[in-house]
Amino acid sequence: MPQTATPAEPAADCSLCPRLVEFREANQKAYPAFFNGAVPSFGKEDAELLVVGLAPGLKGANQTGRPFTGDYAGDLLYKCLKQMGWAKGTYDRRPDDGFELVNTMVTNAVRCVPPQNKPVGSEINNCRPFLQARLAALPNLKVLLALGKIAHDTTIRTFGLRLASYPFGHEAVHPLPNGYILVDSYHCSRYNVNTNRLTEEMFMSALKACQKAMQA
Ligand code: URA
Repeated sequence: MPQTATPAEPAADCSLCPRLVEFREANQKAYPAFFNGAVPSFGKEDAELLVVGLAPGLKGANQTGRPFTGDYAGDLLYKCLKQMGWAKGTYDRRPDDGFELVNTMVTNAVRCVPPQNKPVGSEINNCRPFLQARLAALPNLKVLLALGKIAHDTTIRTFGLRLASYPFGHEAVHPLPNGYILVDSYHCSRYNVNTNRLTEEMFMSALKACQKAMQA
């Protein structure tokens, strides 16, 4: 992935998406103690695995300033990453809990919290250069884990590939250019778990597919 002029991490007060800026300003008033900004990626710069989530949750990452930190999706993600040996320490839903990722980085397709957890197409497109820059700045990256179809689609587009040639599916493994491998999982959201679309076993199985791809 070639280096780009875009930084791997947007400024916290990034102003590319008017609707997200408006939502941020409303949240700054409603929740002045929250982080309320573009949430930076979390993890190791020498990571072989990049987890691509959707976007910060209002009272999760948007509150704490660390991806997946403070909401249900993070409870499951970080528990399972730890079980795989890709995290250490105690995850305590706080950015200062001392929890650390191992060989892994976690980022989001869209770095700012969207209303109703639903970014629109232009916001996903505006944020894609940051994902591209993020990939380019990970020299040891081998495997990407997309959590949900939005993360999958933006990853495929980041590589300039056609979505029709790379259908999203839980545990689908897609070889990408330059030796990268994309693994898909249903998003580890509370909704997906409560509706049984994703069980913890299924999520662990997708992580094991990542492990296999990293060893290939
Ligand atoms: N928190 C995040 O940072 N990303 C998600 O996709 C969900 C929750």
